[in-house]
Amino acid sequence: MTEGPEALPGCHLIALDTVGSTNEEARRLAEAGAADRTVVWAREQTAGRGRHGRSWASPPGNLYVSILLRPACPVAQAPQIGFAVGAAMADAIRALTGLPVALKWPNDLYLGGEKLSGILLESAGDVAGDTEWVVAGIGVNVAFRPDVPGAGCLNAAGAELQPSTLLESFVPRFFELLDVWSNEGFPPVRAAWEACALPLGSPLSVKLPGGTEAGGFAGIDETGNLLLDVAGNTVRVAVGDVFPLSTAATGA
Ligand code: BTN
Repeated sequence: MTEGPEALPGCHLIALDTVGSTNEEARRLAEAGAADRTVVWAREQTAGRGRHGRSWASPPGNLYVSILLRPACPVAQAPQIGFAVGAAMADAIRALTGLPVALKWPNDLYLGGEKLSGILLESAGDVAGDTEWVVAGIGVNVAFRPDVPGAGCLNAAGAELQPSTLLESFVPRFFELLDVWSNEGFPPVRAAWEACALPLGSPLSVKLPGGTEAGGFAGIDETGNLLLDVAGNTVRVAVGDVFPLSTAATGA
């Protein structure tokens, strides 16, 4: 165990020096009955996981946090929580550093064409389709730039901050958006996400199961699908890997 951030009201914080993966730890806690809004934060991960089974470089210096939630919603709506995570982190980074970080669907944070942050959302439901738990994990490259093409970090962009400072700013904003989502549904979260997203029209390439599609970013729909403008037609993308085609559009 290690000393945690100064103040995180309204949650149960578990602060660790080292863990395999904060998502794995939060998932284990979920299955053991841990409470809604349990926050698992680690200084380093030895087996950090990314989307699509990729690994996530996790040495000390960056932020690794997973939040266990028990929302009262159908499991099909749980992915909407990822947009609240992304918007809250974009707001926190913008407020602390003034850097124009931008969200790329579904929930990567970019700056100047470089990826700074990613989200891994995992959930479990019951036979009726209700959510049992959601684990929302987010990693932010603060001081360490992973040796991965296209990755960046906040320090290299001129922002000096501690991962714990970012956590202190992110968690309250996330819980605020989560309350809004519980009370009012997805529309205000969608608006908060779009307010921090890449500019409309930003050129994107989308790797789909059947091939690659290129088009202009046209927002997200009422359920969180990506909207892509392909030669004047709006294409909805529910699942796919999305890559920005121009660094100019990603918050220089
Ligand atoms: C991505 O592939 O972009 C998602 C990366 C998610 C990484 C975070 S770090 C904290 C949490 N624990 C993990 O093992 N993964 C997530």
